[in-house]
Amino acid sequence: MNSIREDHHEVRLVRHPDGGLRESDLEVVGAPMPVMRPGCVLVRTTHLSIDAAVRLRLDPVSPPGYLPAFAPGDVLAGLAVGVVVESDAAGFAPGDVVQHAQGYRTFAVVDPSDAALGGAGSLTLLDPALAPPEVHLGLLGGTGLTAWAGLHAVAAIRPDDTVWVSAAAGAVGSVAAQLARLHGCRVIGSAGGPEKAAHLVDRLGLAAGVDRRGDLAAAMAAAAPDGIDVYFDNVGGDHLRVALDLMRPFGRIALCGAIDGYDDGAAATPDNLFLATSKNLTLRGFRAGAFADRFDEARAELAALWRSGDLELELAVHHGLDAAPRAIVDLLAGRNTGKCVVTLDA
Ligand SMILES: NC(=O)c1ccc[n+]([C@@H]2O[C@H](COP(=O)([O-])OP(=O)(O)OC[C@H]3O[C@@H](n4cnc5c(N)ncnc54)[C@H](OP(=O)(O)O)[C@@H]3O)[C@@H](O)[C@H]2O)c1
Repeated sequence: MNSIREDHHEVRLVRHPDGGLRESDLEVVGAPMPVMRPGCVLVRTTHLSIDAAVRLRLDPVSPPGYLPAFAPGDVLAGLAVGVVVESDAAGFAPGDVVQHAQGYRTFAVVDPSDAALGGAGSLTLLDPALAPPEVHLGLLGGTGLTAWAGLHAVAAIRPDDTVWVSAAAGAVGSVAAQLARLHGCRVIGSAGGPEKAAHLVDRLGLAAGVDRRGDLAAAMAAAAPDGIDVYFDNVGGDHLRVALDLMRPFGRIALCGAIDGYDDGAAATPDNLFLATSKNLTLRGFRAGAFADRFDEARAELAALWRSGDLELELAVHHGLDAAPRAIVDLLAGRNTGKCVVTLDA
């Protein structure tokens, strides 16, 4: 099992990016087959989730309190779906379809007791009859659960709320925006470029779509003349500043992410944060794994909405592990619409 096998490849960090990530900062290399360990499961990856947050671990130091940074030579990690090849763990058998958090490699040896990503990335048996792997990885996995947790557990949305979702054409954002709309909220989405802004209205059915590349403050004020009750923040920086200005008294902000600063330094801290005090706002950061005890409830709702066709999962699919570096770079540049997935099956 320790010989070099042509079919085992890994995505490794070559060097920490100097500014924005370049494809050449990563490499896809052949490597020795991972060695099976007692109590573990050997999984062949079929689908890899590309998530914005992987960028946070590519700098020499990751943000305080977050997952550790990768060192040059390290294999990247991320959520993935695969098929069990060999099992020494109760409850898992060859042929089972599973999700785990050791993506970015063709084969992975996964310890079922490892509560990766605070439980959101633990080895989990999937039901292939329920939904295809992309849907398990997206809507029913980290993406959908993050959107659900941010809206319900963190922001406690109500049907009469006006909700702004930023990066609303992306994976988490597009699910959050649709979920809030289905809950009866008036939803404004923002995204990069006029085509994406139109897409938010035409395809996702939002009340308004705002192009973040224009005058964001003016466009948001026009889209929400009476202010907003909830801001689902995927971006931070200038977006959070505009949201603070627009919040109604006692509004809620779910701090999901701050992609504005991921690829080229920290997102700017808003200079109007005192509005949180003067307007009695609630700002709450969260990681989806903190709500693992509600994942069954969330998955049931997300699955029902997906099966009924009310909730759509848009996909940005790349083929082959070799495409993973490009997929990350594209996502950070906003060249994806919907959930970005790399498929590894031929
Ligand atoms: N808290 C959690 O548990 C959790 C879990 C998963 C993800 N997240 C967060 O959710 C957010 C979205 O992640 P994702 O994986 O779903 O990625 P995604 O939304 O599919 O892709 C990222 C999108 O962000 C937008 N973007 C990139 N740079 C930007 C900038 N400087 N300003 C504004 N928008 C920018 C781009 O869209 P446009 O060009 O169209 O704007 C891009 O498509 C991230 O902040 C991530 O960290 C949080």
